[in-house]
Amino acid sequence: MSSELYERTAKATISTYTYALYLPLISTNLLLCAMWHVVDLQGVQAMQFSGRVVIVTGAASARGIGFATALAFAGEGARVAIVDIDEQGANRAAARLGGDHLGVGCDVSNPVACKDTVARVVSTFGRIDILVNNAGIVSSDRLHALTHEHARQTMDVNAGGTIAMTLAARASLIEARGTIVNVASVAAQRGGGIFGGAHYAASKAAILGFTKACARELAPLGVRVNAVSPSMVDTDIFGGALSEDQRAAVLATIPLGRLARADEIANAILFLASDRSSYITGATLDVNGGSHMH
Ligand SMILES: NC(=O)c1ccc[n+]([C@@H]2O[C@H](COP(=O)([O-])OP(=O)(O)OC[C@H]3O[C@@H](n4cnc5c(N)ncnc54)[C@H](O)[C@@H]3O)[C@@H](O)[C@H]2O)c1
Repeated sequence: MSSELYERTAKATISTYTYALYLPLISTNLLLCAMWHVVDLQGVQAMQFSGRVVIVTGAASARGIGFATALAFAGEGARVAIVDIDEQGANRAAARLGGDHLGVGCDVSNPVACKDTVARVVSTFGRIDILVNNAGIVSSDRLHALTHEHARQTMDVNAGGTIAMTLAARASLIEARGTIVNVASVAAQRGGGIFGGAHYAASKAAILGFTKACARELAPLGVRVNAVSPSMVDTDIFGGALSEDQRAAVLATIPLGRLARADEIANAILFLASDRSSYITGATLDVNGGSHMH
């Protein structure tokens, strides 16, 4: 065989092998692309919060609204920072979510701790898209027994914590054109009278005012701010202090005839944090079984 003929034969053999090697890869890619489009068209492939980073405060408590919310966000592809005064609980809750999540110990009533927390979340995940201000405390003291100290503590955690976390995260949220969802309470709208005292109602009413003012200020910067307003959910927040009589009295006022589940509040929070509510800001979404209509 002449050297020219040998060279041509060798080149032809190499390209045949190359096609033979790459053809299955090319076909597999085409198949994957086709499958992706089919799944995409059916709207089931993309998880709602893929690529988003969410902070949920007060999410360590296993039966609480915060953990149910963290679980729902994680289930929709988000990376979640569970922020709670109970550091070990926050770490445990983050581990329970599995995968790429973070637990952070933080007392939200301490603005310095809130700043540190936000810095840690940004250094871990690189961004913050969604802030859920959920951490809260409640007590049932009526006015005759309420101390100023106790009232101040409730205001500091519920209202002060919401404000401190918002201030700490505002720059990141503006950068991400993100959203804030604040957890208020029906107590703010109906003037208490369910379990929490006047100090609790006041702290939650402050959250509603803060929500609306933030929504107004941050809208031009692409950040939406809303609140959910739940009625009673059977969580550990009552610390065993909710009597059967109190529970029955509350039940009697709920048209849907039952207390809410934590995941039902979580669903409302996810809606307000999602693109499905892209034209909603400054709103309070009632999740109260019809117990307060206004
Ligand atoms: N459970 C209800 O009936 C109900 C009704 C309306 C509104 N809410 C509100 O929902 C939110 C969640 O309540 P829940 O019922 O899930 O309570 P929960 O007690 O199960 O969870 C509250 C979480 O907040 C954390 N926390 C308390 N103080 C904190 C602080 N200073 N800093 C950081 N974390 C702190 C707790 O450790 C706990 O993990 C609260 O804001 C509450 O006021 C609850």
